[in-house]
Amino acid sequence: MTNRQAPSAEFGAALRSARGTAGLTQEQLAGLSTVSVRAIRNLERGQVGRPRKDTIRLLADAMRLSDTRRAALELAVEGASTGKALRDVYSAEFAFPPSPLRSLFGRGAELRALDELLGSERERLVTIVGLPGVGKSRLAQEAALRVHAHGGTPVLWLPMDRPDDVVTQVPGRPQSAMVSWVRSLIAEGGNHEELASLFGDKATLLVLDGHEVSPAASPALMHLLQSCRRLKVLVTSRRSHHFPGGRLLPLAPLPTTCQSGPAAGRPLPGDSLSAHRPAVELMLSYVSHMRPDLLLTDSVTATVAEVCEALDGIPQALEAAASWLLLYSLDQLLVLARERPLALVEGPASLSSGTTGALGDLLSAAVTGLRPRGKALLAAGVSQDSPWTVDEVARALGVPPAEAAQDVHALLLHGLIRQLPAEPGGAAGRPGRFAVLHLVRELVAAGGYAADDGGGARPAAQLMAGGPA
Ligand SMILES: Nc1ncnc2c1ncn2[C@@H]1O[C@H](COP(=O)(O)OP(=O)(O)OP(=O)(O)O)[C@@H](O)[C@H]1O
Ligand SMILES: [Mg+2]
Repeated sequence: MTNRQAPSAEFGAALRSARGTAGLTQEQLAGLSTVSVRAIRNLERGQVGRPRKDTIRLLADAMRLSDTRRAALELAVEGASTGKALRDVYSAEFAFPPSPLRSLFGRGAELRALDELLGSERERLVTIVGLPGVGKSRLAQEAALRVHAHGGTPVLWLPMDRPDDVVTQVPGRPQSAMVSWVRSLIAEGGNHEELASLFGDKATLLVLDGHEVSPAASPALMHLLQSCRRLKVLVTSRRSHHFPGGRLLPLAPLPTTCQSGPAAGRPLPGDSLSAHRPAVELMLSYVSHMRPDLLLTDSVTATVAEVCEALDGIPQALEAAASWLLLYSLDQLLVLARERPLALVEGPASLSSGTTGALGDLLSAAVTGLRPRGKALLAAGVSQDSPWTVDEVARALGVPPAEAAQDVHALLLHGLIRQLPAEPGGAAGRPGRFAVLHLVRELVAAGGYAADDGGGARPAAQLMAGGPA
């Protein structure tokens, strides 16, 4: 019986304190929350064994509690302060990354680099940066799973851009309360001492997924890193934040051309056309699910490879495009991918998740956010008919090559342009050649990124209505 009473007393005190901070009487709280005055009084007196989760939610909503306070209230049900409650359960079994729903294609080299960074004692702050939908979260998830599985390390996965993420936020689970608590500490600041003492000297991986705010390294985060010497932080972001002392890992789209192995360069007769081309392998998996009737012949694979190329190997673009296969043939899809890639990647409205926004809009935001010099370079790149070098684009713009090189570097970091692989047999030391992504090219050519005149990212349904030209 004592075990059941202690938590309710703790909860009663937490509720009273939260209500006081909200400046509400018991009657007012009852009116706002639809919980009866009598129930609130009993809760505050510690006369309810274990308050129901729904009741806590109603009360917290009515008091408009911040994430931190809400988490503290939820944890008080267990009869302890936030830190103490979590200390009792904090372990690798308690904290783990969300399980992937689908297989990972490619990314071997990137995973090796991350394994090395996260396995090293010195590297403690790593940011994966790249275009929307390029696969930053998916890669971080895989890396976190490996850290969790191999080292038995607790992994706290914080969806910074989706507070109500269904995978991590199961109401009432201590892990969910912890996620809310840590996320609000990092985003809003607060007393981080308790969290620092929870991590202590234990190895922990904190993943800040979709951390777009600037400056990203909040004082709370830096303090945690300083206080907890075995804490590591992995960030995914569309923006290339500069963390003092942190590592940046720019993530390129999935390769659409052969990367290694016997098929590198020129496919040999008999080689699988998709081998060593992760974008093509991924797209084929979507195609075979959308159209199980389609035999994956060499000609189908070749068309799929061309679609991948037209969509720059961006996984989210491939997924959206594949969903149109319900309506169009593969050949029609290729025509659309070449003529109107932006409309294609928006995906049918019925399949849009609605949480991350349409890819076209996100890409448009990435271009709009560039400095004028970056935009000018992008426009110059788009006006070139074939891949260009830094010197060529510098000449076109009438700027010194060193200045153009800086801007090319920035655009590569953003992922808006790509470097073409060296030609087989080409002379070593030849200057690199670059191309603007096809999706970005359409955006820039239509001027659709700054003030959309309707020509850039027109709604997919509008463009699809007539089918491919
Ligand atoms: N290597 C891959 N293999 C298979 N699927 C992938 C791969 N990379 C990404 N995906 C899938 O593509 C979609 C977009 O990936 P993800 O959410 O990781 O992108 P992101 O870069 O985090 O985007 P955002 O900037 O919007 O957060 C997801 O459905 C993901 O599962
Ligand atoms: Mg993401």
